[in-house]
Amino acid sequence: MKRAFSGVQPSGNIHIGNYLGAVRQFVQLQDVYEGIYCVVDLHAITVPQEPAELRRQIREVAAFYLAAGLDPARSTLFVQSDVPAHPELAWILNCFATFGELSRMTQFKDKARKSSQESVSAGLFNYPVLMAADILLYQADVVPVGEDQKQHVELTRDLAERVNRRLGPLFRVPEPLIPQLGARIMGLDNPQAKMSKSAESPWNYISFGDDPDLIRRKIARAVTDSGREVVYDPEAKPAIANLLTIFSGFTGRPVEELEREYRDTGYARFKADLAEAVIAGMEPIRRRLAEMEAEPGYLEEVLRQGAERAAAIAESTVRQVKEALGLGLGRA
Ligand code: TYM
Repeated sequence: MKRAFSGVQPSGNIHIGNYLGAVRQFVQLQDVYEGIYCVVDLHAITVPQEPAELRRQIREVAAFYLAAGLDPARSTLFVQSDVPAHPELAWILNCFATFGELSRMTQFKDKARKSSQESVSAGLFNYPVLMAADILLYQADVVPVGEDQKQHVELTRDLAERVNRRLGPLFRVPEPLIPQLGARIMGLDNPQAKMSKSAESPWNYISFGDDPDLIRRKIARAVTDSGREVVYDPEAKPAIANLLTIFSGFTGRPVEELEREYRDTGYARFKADLAEAVIAGMEPIRRRLAEMEAEPGYLEEVLRQGAERAAAIAESTVRQVKEALGLGLGRA
């Protein structure tokens, strides 16, 4: 069986963009790929986190994996910092990555632009190398992600090829897997920027912690475009195009069909039906999240077993890389 690997940061409220762009694919891929899915807590600390809140969010992402439908009997679920091979391989790959290529990563440039050079951590700069280590440790064939992570997967491919050229065929070179629909869900308050877990305003996103009433209010307040026709035109009508994408994502109904139904009904009716579709689509996941809260210990056990399985694979890769580099003595 081919292998899929991906990760989600525990750095805020999991939102419908994370679901439609990434986690839903993880679940769909389960029949075809062996899945390894990680809660990437070491990525989250590239910006300051409050420890108790971080701990809560790690559990939340892990619970979300299960609630969305990942089956721990078929997929390996674990927390990144429970497997020390991640930072170990990341250090090694840092010695292959160049300052120039990391400086060109658009996500880093975006984040760094918002703060001063003195306050951006070196971890944030090196973040894509840790992500490459995550993927390469498991010899993944595919990496299901949203559009914003594509450049990082391309860097991962470059690093894998560079190491393989220098040291021999140590790594499988992975392919990004980006969904046709939902790869880039935009903010409800600003359709020019992607929906983000760490958005300043809660009106930017719909998270799985939002109750139905709040979801209705968020959609009612979502920015729209001028005019009143509901048509899919990302250039001229980015806000409506985004809402149509979300509608299609949660109902499985093609965008063209929704356009036909809502073209002339006006935005208010469109938004009201969209809200009900989103609430209905999120409902089974929200219910399982609540059920899991009532089952203490289950999540921890899944993550403990997952870390054990993941560590066995990851350690074997690191051992081979160290040997190829001539590192270490006595504990091969
Ligand atoms: P993160 O935690 O920001 O996002 C998790 C996943 O959700 C996707 N995503 C979106 N998809 C559509 N629309 C959006 N608005 C949206 N926002 C986020 C992301 O593309 C991602 O797939 N660096 C990664 C985590 C990571 C990782 C990895 C991923 C660490 N190591 C190894 C894959 C493989 C990140 O910050 O994702």
